[in-house]
Amino acid sequence: MKKTGVIAAAILATSFAMPAAAQLSVEDQIEARQAGYQFMAWNMGKIKAQAVDGDVEFNADQMKAAANAIAAIANSGMGALFSPDSTMDKAENTRLKPEFFQQTDKVREVGTNFVREANKLQEVAATGDRGALARQFSAVGQTCKACHDNFRAD
Ligand code: HEC
Repeated sequence: MKKTGVIAAAILATSFAMPAAAQLSVEDQIEARQAGYQFMAWNMGKIKAQAVDGDVEFNADQMKAAANAIAAIANSGMGALFSPDSTMDKAENTRLKPEFFQQTDKVREVGTNFVREANKLQEVAATGDRGALARQFSAVGQTCKACHDNFRAD
């Protein structure tokens, strides 16, 4: 290989090594999406404890932080963590139903509802209104459940 060829190959290798959004392995997709859901569930739990149940004293700053975290994950483009090879009939350690890649209209519907309600959660949390936050918690929870009922195995 000529010298210029070597340099060109080196540049190409570098740019391929660091694409804007790396294509993750199926295992990494599954781990990352489960971590994202767990992290949202942890934050939903905080909102439930403070705004809904009152087990923990209401702290508007903590509620804002929790809602921001949920909205950030909702808006992070999690769709990139779902590939047809990552369903439970093809991969291990996952409960993603294959229907996820067959019922695309339904996926779009539940996904859009979820992102919309998560963004609203962030807005409501910013107001510090506990009652409104409790109501919006419930609205978000319904969108989580809608997706689970359709696309997550028991
Ligand atoms: C677009 C569909 C969808 C939405 C919306 C959704 N989930 Fe899930 N969730 C899934 C799927 C699919 C799995 C299974 C992922 C896997 O096993 O690969 C899952 C898994 C989980 C898990 C278990 C993670 C693990 O470690 O296995 C928790 C907890 C969870 N979701 C909570 C939530 C919460 C809380 C919300 C709403 C704030 C939510 N999810 C919204 C589809 C969704």
